[in-house]
Amino acid sequence: MTDVRQWTAPGRVNLIGEHLDYNGGPVLPIAINRSLRLKARLRNDDIVRVWTTLGGNQSAEFTTAVQPGEVTDWAACVAGVFWALAEQGRAIPGADLVIDGDLASGAGLSSSAAVEAVVATALNDLLGLGIDRIDLALLCQRAENDFAGVPTGIMDQLAVLNGERGKALLIDLLPERPTIETVDANWADAGLSLVVIDTMTRHDLGDGRYAERREECRQAADALGLEQLAAAGPDAVLKLDDDVLKARTRHVITETARVRGAVRALRTGNWTQFGSMLTASHASLRDDFAVSRMELDIAVEASIEAGAFGARMTGGGFGGSAIALVDASLRAELADKVTSRFAFHQFAAPEFFTVEAADGAREIRP
Ligand code: GLA
Repeated sequence: MTDVRQWTAPGRVNLIGEHLDYNGGPVLPIAINRSLRLKARLRNDDIVRVWTTLGGNQSAEFTTAVQPGEVTDWAACVAGVFWALAEQGRAIPGADLVIDGDLASGAGLSSSAAVEAVVATALNDLLGLGIDRIDLALLCQRAENDFAGVPTGIMDQLAVLNGERGKALLIDLLPERPTIETVDANWADAGLSLVVIDTMTRHDLGDGRYAERREECRQAADALGLEQLAAAGPDAVLKLDDDVLKARTRHVITETARVRGAVRALRTGNWTQFGSMLTASHASLRDDFAVSRMELDIAVEASIEAGAFGARMTGGGFGGSAIALVDASLRAELADKVTSRFAFHQFAAPEFFTVEAADGAREIRP
């Protein structure tokens, strides 16, 4: 057994660029100051034991020869990392792992990517594997897709591994290899706050609806003769017959343009413009991409009424969290307005917290 060391991995909030990663478009996430913590030490008997305090005390045990289907539920993201490393031919001994933290799962803040990233970063460091952060993200995505069986893109894994304090990440999902450019995320200097509204509705990206959107995008790209839908030109919608595929394509085209506009607005501190991109993104996700739900729509609507520059659902959708960019002095008013609107509709009480752009997964040195 080796000494216990500690790592941390943040959650993420996607500022804009939703459902573009698997279509080859640009996305603009930040890693956030809500995170998981991992205490880890190596074992030498090919056994992995993992405990977590998240969602109540739970534990799991498997061997380093674990295969897809043998570990399910929350621990699949952990076992998937061991499996993906073994698939690369890397010799992994066993490990004892303890995971805790303040990142809610199912809230649309990428807790599963954070689990994968914190485990992968720890193993990379403990074993001196020297895998870079883009390849680590690809490995984590493999764990999620092919072991846990959840067909996500790669945005979340890239965001939680490459986050930088005070920076948004402009990620271009180029077919060969993703590129990442940082953009100052300095709304706080202008007196603004980015508020996360956790609607307390939980999403499950493995329930088939996320996969259905991916499939629709693939069908639209095929019909247009494209490798990836984000390459569609402005007239693509006119070339399609099917109304559903038209709507999905319209979202991908307009969202791609909104990301570019939002990056310009962020760079110049044009918060009105930035906010209007967020709100327009929400409308597109609601109407064209059909991944919102009433709680998210109401959170966005009430935030705008409370004076937010803009608001939108963030992440895969169907539940989870919305974000609102608001003058810090209006935060309480925003929370009151959303809370009373939720009470009126008899929804569970939402939770609010302000997030900042934070660093990605890393070892915490004593
Ligand atoms: C989830 C997936 C990501 C991405 C978003 C939608 O968070 O994990 O890969 O597709 O949904 O933008």
